[in-house]
Amino acid sequence: MGLFKRKKAAENSERVLPKHIAFIMDGNGRWAKRRGLPRKFGHREGAKTFKKITRYCKDIGIKNVSFYAFSTENWKRPKDEVDAIIELFREYIIDVRNYIGEEVRVLFLGDKSIFDDDLRKKMVDLENDTKDYNRMTMLLAINYGGRDDIVHAAKTLAQRVRDGKLLPGDITEEMFQPELYTKDVPDVDLLIRPSGEERISNFLLWQSAYAEFYFTNVLWPDFDSKELDKAIDEFNHRQRRFGGV
Ligand code: IPE
Ligand code: IPE
Ligand code: MG
Repeated sequence: MGLFKRKKAAENSERVLPKHIAFIMDGNGRWAKRRGLPRKFGHREGAKTFKKITRYCKDIGIKNVSFYAFSTENWKRPKDEVDAIIELFREYIIDVRNYIGEEVRVLFLGDKSIFDDDLRKKMVDLENDTKDYNRMTMLLAINYGGRDDIVHAAKTLAQRVRDGKLLPGDITEEMFQPELYTKDVPDVDLLIRPSGEERISNFLLWQSAYAEFYFTNVLWPDFDSKELDKAIDEFNHRQRRFGGV
């Protein structure tokens, strides 16, 4: 091994990998606008980035990676844009095995009941078929809201109280975790938002309580493995205290 490769290998072995990276895939519309194209072209391009980044995360050994694809607030957008996004989503889940390969568990975050039977069945089947894979978990948030996630978990616990299996005073933070859409997936370590916006926009609120935030002006369709390496390097320079000293 040459000196450069040895140095690179040493760097990589010292680098701490976040256990869970979350991406807010933002900036698709602006990417298209800058090219004089309709917004949906930006979503198509952004979906390609999603494929590349998923594969890269798997290759470098990230165990959990979440992507915010469509929020509970995004229904406010014009119907043709919403339809284009759902159509892309449909295409991508049919094709999922081709780009993530085997060994990846897929979890969908959000309320699936809004989708038609055919799409919902595809989502449930994919979750069931991949549930035992453990090389990486890929979480795709669609019709997802962080507040909705917490309310949904609260309803499950409330039902348990109603059934006489749990006392209100016995509810703990630990009981919420498995009822959230993210189930057994650990909290977010690194939350990445491209496009220059510096806000969480109702993504993984509970799960990001102690996440490190990384913002970049790059638009999501232009985001690549080099950008991700930069974010991971930055993460390695952060001092996490979790309330301690
Ligand atoms: C993110 O890109 C994708 C979704 C919200 C579905 P945007 O569509 O929000 O892109 P900008 O923010 O308008 O550039
Ligand atoms: C957040 O982006 C949602 C997704 C990326 C899916 P938005 O573009 O919807 O967020 P705001 O409206 O700028 O906060
Ligand atoms: Mg946006």
